[in-house]
Amino acid sequence: MTAPKKLFIKTYGCQMNVYDSERMAESLGGQGYVETQTAEEADMILLNTCHIREKAAEKVYSELGRLKALKTENPDLKIGVTGCVAQAEGEEIMRRQPAVDLVVGPQSYHRLPQMEARVRAGQTALDTDFPEEDKFETLKGRTKAARAPSAFLTVQEGCDKFCAFCVVPYTRGAEASRPVTRILDEARELVDRGVRELTLLGQNVNAYHGAGPDGAEHSLAQLIWALNDIDGLERIRFTTSHPNDMTDDLIEAHGSCDKLMPYLHLPVQSGSDHILKRMNRSHTAESYLRVIERIRAARPDILMSGDFIVGFPEETEEDFQATLDLIENVRYGYAYSFKYSTRPGTPAAERAQVDADVADARLQRIQALITRQQQEIQDTMVGRDLHVLVEKPGRNPGQMVGKSEYLHAVHIENSDAAVGDIVPVRITEAKRNSLAAIRRN
Ligand code: 5AD
Ligand code: SF4
Repeated sequence: MTAPKKLFIKTYGCQMNVYDSERMAESLGGQGYVETQTAEEADMILLNTCHIREKAAEKVYSELGRLKALKTENPDLKIGVTGCVAQAEGEEIMRRQPAVDLVVGPQSYHRLPQMEARVRAGQTALDTDFPEEDKFETLKGRTKAARAPSAFLTVQEGCDKFCAFCVVPYTRGAEASRPVTRILDEARELVDRGVRELTLLGQNVNAYHGAGPDGAEHSLAQLIWALNDIDGLERIRFTTSHPNDMTDDLIEAHGSCDKLMPYLHLPVQSGSDHILKRMNRSHTAESYLRVIERIRAARPDILMSGDFIVGFPEETEEDFQATLDLIENVRYGYAYSFKYSTRPGTPAAERAQVDADVADARLQRIQALITRQQQEIQDTMVGRDLHVLVEKPGRNPGQMVGKSEYLHAVHIENSDAAVGDIVPVRITEAKRNSLAAIRRN
């Protein structure tokens, strides 16, 4: 028997990449690969890249430069680039770094086994198409190994919104939803393997409009209600949403669907209407606040989370102040802020850029506000009775770690809970990035 080949995947960026990396590992499992955690041991290295952050492509090239040396040690080593940088750069990657054997964009992962065979035969393989077939059907895992209690499930991919700063519509392509039955089958399979919480993924997840079993289109809310019926599945979340797609049925589900958790990531990017218009967001600060009002009317305790970009072209001090005001107004449990950085090919890349020092200073100010707000909201959790889905043992003896309904990391002291249990707790202390709790009976 030959020893199995070893696969090392380095995943950058969003949860969808984490999900895709798992699917790729399972699919290459069929080609005789087992995963390893070290690049040095690998016979195949895949960099599953993200294009959202600044200088993403340059960082990939320098990582490739380092990895290239491993080929001298192991002449059988093959190196591949997957993900959004692969989609955006295409064959340029092989031109700039000839050590790369394989480049595949997110829509073609199901072709990975054939591509692997090609590179094993000493050729290179490149695929950045947007094919018609359902990649997830072909990518289906063959392993039925037990899974951690919380898992991601991609239900929708791509985006038609074309925000002026964003590469997603170019790298992930047009908005596309997976059919309901396939999602339910995958969900049941995950639950059979121990999963109790599912986070439905999509770049624009609440624009979901997959074909239902009767052929009619289902909304995200309808999909959630269908998932709600799966025995053994206890918690449902979804991310990332666009304010304009927060439909009535989805808002209503937040009020009435028990398994849907009280947490919503709803990026707004800016609090200034002028900037929102220039970002092509097709909503205003006011319409965003109204959506949140309606969500809170349905589910008063919902924890809001958001994304912000500072230093977008033309952003004035007044525009930035409007963003700070909006944050004060909403009170976010979590928020992520980014300094604008240009993406070649996107409309905003052509515009006059805000001075880097000004953008840096704004980033610091927004982050200080967000940190303070997050801490205040964490503090309000002390004394509250919550439920924690236990994910793993903690550092201290007897300690278990998991997530609350609101997605806070919670450390339960002296707990006899097992991984996968959902246990009632009382929060005793709010720390910087987590909550401490004791178990209730
Ligand atoms: N510059 C800075 N931040 C960006 N994001 C997306 N594109 C850019 C860019 N060009 C941020 C947005 C988005 C999050 C995932 O990344 O806030 O919601
Ligand atoms: Fe990008 Fe989100 Fe805008 Fe789509 S809605 S273009 S994914 S920021």
